[in-house]
Amino acid sequence: MANQDEHFKKVIAHAKEYGYIVQSSEIYDGLSAVYDYSHNGVELKNNIREYWWKAMVQMNENIVGIDAAILMHPTTWKASGHVDAFNDPLIDNKDSKKRYRADVLIEDYAEKLLQKAQKEIDKASERFGASFDEEIYKSTNPRVSGYLTEKEQILSRMAKSLEKNDLSDVKELIIELGITCPVSGSKNWTDVKQFNLMFGTKLGADAETAMDLYLRPETAQGIFVNFLNVQKSGRMKIPFGIAQTGKAFRNEIVARQFIFRMREFEQMEMQFFIRPGEQMKWYETWKNKRLSWHLSLGLGKENYRFHKHEKLAHYADAASDIEFNFPFGFKELEGIHSRTDFDLSSHEKFSGKKLQYFDPELNESYVPYVIETSIGLDRMFLAVFSNSLVDEVLEDQSVRTVLKLPAVLAPVKAAVFPLIKKDGLPEIAHQIINELKLDFNTTYDDKDAIGRRYRRQDAAGTPFCITVDHQTLEDQTVTIRHRDTMEQKRISISEIKNIIFQEVSTSSWLRKME
Ligand code: GAP
Repeated sequence: MANQDEHFKKVIAHAKEYGYIVQSSEIYDGLSAVYDYSHNGVELKNNIREYWWKAMVQMNENIVGIDAAILMHPTTWKASGHVDAFNDPLIDNKDSKKRYRADVLIEDYAEKLLQKAQKEIDKASERFGASFDEEIYKSTNPRVSGYLTEKEQILSRMAKSLEKNDLSDVKELIIELGITCPVSGSKNWTDVKQFNLMFGTKLGADAETAMDLYLRPETAQGIFVNFLNVQKSGRMKIPFGIAQTGKAFRNEIVARQFIFRMREFEQMEMQFFIRPGEQMKWYETWKNKRLSWHLSLGLGKENYRFHKHEKLAHYADAASDIEFNFPFGFKELEGIHSRTDFDLSSHEKFSGKKLQYFDPELNESYVPYVIETSIGLDRMFLAVFSNSLVDEVLEDQSVRTVLKLPAVLAPVKAAVFPLIKKDGLPEIAHQIINELKLDFNTTYDDKDAIGRRYRRQDAAGTPFCITVDHQTLEDQTVTIRHRDTMEQKRISISEIKNIIFQEVSTSSWLRKME
């Protein structure tokens, strides 16, 4: 745990030092849980968005994209259920005056039970070797099965209480489990209250007549209200999907853990419209497709797991998260939700407009069902960034800090250096950049010794460094150094583009999904 905390602190400091992320309005001491992306951060964020967009829209003939407005008619949020049900249960500790999400306190407690069970399982697996059967061990070892059963019971009781809005039982559970405030260490809790997460704003200049609006808390509703427009203008046939990326806003009660939980963030969502009754088939399909997208980036299969929801949102008949092993443990990265026909039916009711599809094969009209895939772009950024940041101990025992970003996502693909700042070497370096910049983001650096320049680019995540030296003047060759292997090769200038392309092209990475 101490190591995890250390790593997380390093991630946050590194993100600032290398131009990835800074606190918003930092000169005014910042705004809580709101962040700005700096020059490298914006490139990485754009690249993640593009990688998602290509995988979802470009690679699926039956998915198209839209870009709906952030401000929507206020009835949208009545129909979607957000006005009445987009709440988090909050609880305050009377001694520390700190506010928490009651469900998160309980979930963290349950996660610790899971970790205890996992520790026993890992020990046993080491002891028994190849003959170890995890499933049998889980059900027969009393300590492990005890931890797992207790975890299930706790989560299921919480889910039931939240569903019934029985907030006093949620508090009771916190008391029974002996959960203490991480700051004061006390069990002196207030009652649990519901808190609506939507940010309100006003449309119009006149205070009397201004209309109350909300900043959208999810991008999905922009897709639902456009369902018929897109279906008709795109002549889409079910099954088909609509994808969108964009900002969402939530007045999170506890916004901690850097960009994991923000008040202003970006989502990448896709709603897949299907025949009623086919939802379980498509739900499984999209769970698998989305996991293979994640795995294509090579952050390690062991860092992902599915988590099936016990407590379903008001619109869902099944839901799972893809969880990622963040520096603070496994947490939700993406949600895959079977949303039934809840949203379209509800918009039909509130708008009085039909939102149906005529299925020529069935010769009938119906309100389609929907499978949704929903991922936070910032959360994906944190997954990629934190996983990529490593300290390597080299043969000479020195430590190399390297940001091993998947090359397709790296903000800058190549740095070009003249060995020294004279003899025409800078001019050749600039010529190389002029040629490469038509295809890739590049940077020029002539400051400090070459070794220090390499280290700077390693820490910034640049996959290739190209050095122009005196031999270049004679035979038009340069050295190209690979960030991860540190291997250096002498190649001709004409080969540079191709070598970079092979490693950074989106197509070669997306092919790994197949
Ligand atoms: N349309 C469904 C929906 O919005 P959600 O589980 O509330 O579902 C989907 O959010 C994804 O959005 C999450 O898996 C997470 O990646 C991201 N997300 C949600 N709240 C966030 C926040 N406060 N900060 C950053 N990302 C967030």
